Amino acid sequence: MALKVEASAPSNIALIKYMGKSESSSNRPANTSLSYTLENLRTFVTIEEGESGWQPLPGYPELQLSEKGRLKFLNHFERLWSTWNLSGSYLIRSANNFPSDCGLASSASSFAALTLAAYELARRLRPELNVTLAELSRLSRLGSGSSCRSLFSPWAVWRNEGAEAVDLPLRLEHAVVMVEDGHKAVSSSEAHLRVTSSLIYEGRPARAEHRLEALRGALAEVARGSKPAWHEAYELCWSEFWDMHALFETSRPAFGYMNAGTLRCLNHMRHIWQSTGDGPLVTMDAGPNVHLLFRQEQKEEAAIWLKGFDVMTSWGLKS
Ligand code: DP6
Repeated sequence: MALKVEASAPSNIALIKYMGKSESSSNRPANTSLSYTLENLRTFVTIEEGESGWQPLPGYPELQLSEKGRLKFLNHFERLWSTWNLSGSYLIRSANNFPSDCGLASSASSFAALTLAAYELARRLRPELNVTLAELSRLSRLGSGSSCRSLFSPWAVWRNEGAEAVDLPLRLEHAVVMVEDGHKAVSSSEAHLRVTSSLIYEGRPARAEHRLEALRGALAEVARGSKPAWHEAYELCWSEFWDMHALFETSRPAFGYMNAGTLRCLNHMRHIWQSTGDGPLVTMDAGPNVHLLFRQEQKEEAAIWLKGFDVMTSWGLKS
């Protein structure tokens, strides 16, 4: 029987962003980033002996990859294969369990899942191989930077080579407010390059590191039950994503992702905080959708806050 393996990996949302690279070809980040792992939003990958190539994995919403995306994916497999001194031709199939048109970045979960599936197969072929999770994370980074954080859960911090788990006993609920499902005009890989042309890029790594330390402290307090620390965490996340989007808008040439729906949602969330003294952590990736993280006991209130928005939540509410 032909050899076949299967693996899956979750997506993640960064609260302190990876934006700007210190070394472009190997996706080394200009600053440390911190993310929460989105266990429910996953990519599934199968690899089997056969003609080399990529196909969508049946049984899930059909994934479409551009020619460039397909090549990047297959090249990552080739890189892993040569790292482990393996050869042969393999068919790779992949799919996400979330709709690909919902505007969620799937490169983190895709490259993490491919790295795990390739390792699973490599172990069948070379049982003596023993690669640590830290090394797999470093290898996954070479495919797509943010994917290196997806190997750790629920929190991951990524400084340079690969990510590591954060000792933070805090589980949150996630919701994404979908304001647009269109295709991105500027990919995040391109964004990493362009932001360095912004005059406010100077000092960006230091700002991110400073916020990271403050946020880690605040989240540790939240885990111990502090309410003021939750507010502090919200303020830090808020200024962090605006910092990144300000870099986009001040790059040369400038670009941006926010639209009227984004601003409506952001204003609404800020109003909730200002009028009630509580609310979700708010953040955005390189896209127009708004990500929210809630404490578990906020789920009921969240249903009210999210009324009138098109949302996908980790607990299944859709309004
Ligand atoms: C805005 O990991 O997609 O989501 O390393 O070039 O593949 P490459 O970039 P990618 O960048 C993600 C950027 C971000 C912020 C983040 O996830 O930290």
